[in-house]
Amino acid sequence: MAERIRLVEVGPRDGLQNERTPVSVATRIEFIERLIAAGLTTIEAGSFVSEKRVPQMAGSAEVLRAVLPRSDCEFHVLVPNEQGLAAAQAAGAKVVAVFASASETFSRRNINCSIAESIERFRPVLARAKAAGIRVRGYVSCVLGCPYEGEVSVAAVVRVARMLWDEGCYEISLGDTIGVGTPGKARAMLRAVAQAVPLEHLALHCHDTYGQALANILAGLEEGVRAIDCSAGGLGGCPYAPGATGNVATEDVVYMCEGMGLATGVDLDRLVEATNWITLQLRRAPASRVAAALMAKRAVTLS
Ligand code: HMG
Ligand code: MG
Repeated sequence: MAERIRLVEVGPRDGLQNERTPVSVATRIEFIERLIAAGLTTIEAGSFVSEKRVPQMAGSAEVLRAVLPRSDCEFHVLVPNEQGLAAAQAAGAKVVAVFASASETFSRRNINCSIAESIERFRPVLARAKAAGIRVRGYVSCVLGCPYEGEVSVAAVVRVARMLWDEGCYEISLGDTIGVGTPGKARAMLRAVAQAVPLEHLALHCHDTYGQALANILAGLEEGVRAIDCSAGGLGGCPYAPGATGNVATEDVVYMCEGMGLATGVDLDRLVEATNWITLQLRRAPASRVAAALMAKRAVTLS
């Protein structure tokens, strides 16, 4: 049997949090349902952050409540503090994600506190979540560069990843928030972090700003990483990372993994349908080479 890759589909959160066209709660729910129909089983459905700061994620409780009955899927939501956890818990969340940064400036811009303060904020979140049987994933942003500080040291990434792991996160997702990394740097960073956090508990979260995401993911796969974050159609960006494009497109990751004999469980044609549907709502083109290729192939077949 083919070895399995665990995809964490972040389109409904990371993808939609930065879109200019407002997306209704109903559209977000239907997007998730279409992603499930394509075979995705771990989906980041929204975030419980300040609505003033990220209005696109308002209504995440409604989104989560609507999709939670799908017991065959795992839904994640972002929480920055205890207030967010309480709201997520009230909506029935079973998995939440806290998000720290390896860069001080990004931490302040994104969540309005230092790295050390963010870890202090997460401590009671993790304790309360654990008591309630809620699993907590931990993000480290800016692992290969920061929009404000430029270079970020590997030591800083290792330190933050280790802190989140020691606090009890079950998985650490390493975010190249602005997509500046290249494979050699990604590999070196991963090797260093894997000294502090077991490799099987690391995920890669690559944005594709400089077109390096797939190459960085391949380096990660070669190192043994088996959890990859991705976003249908390459949607998104981060409101606090100016100029950064969306995550690596799920279609592109699926195509590469399946081509390498790594099973994803995703039906590419149905995924392209989901992407076409959401990008139509957003009035923008998908940013996936594989989606474009499959659409072109379909057009030739139909003509
Ligand atoms: P703050 O201003 O420091 O906090 O915000 P505060 O406690 O002083 O509260 C200020 C206001 O926010 C208050 O409301 C609170 O009630 C409210 P007001 O009295 O002004 O009406 N508030 C909240 N509302 C809803 N849910 C909450 C919550 N907490 C406080 N949980 C805070 C701190 C973190 C909340 C704020 O800075 C914030 O929401 N920032 C947005 C962060 C965000 O969503 N960023 C994008 C996601 S991160 C990302 O994309 C990177 C990632 O993809 C990985 C990668 O790519 O590397 C994960
Ligand atoms: Mg991101």
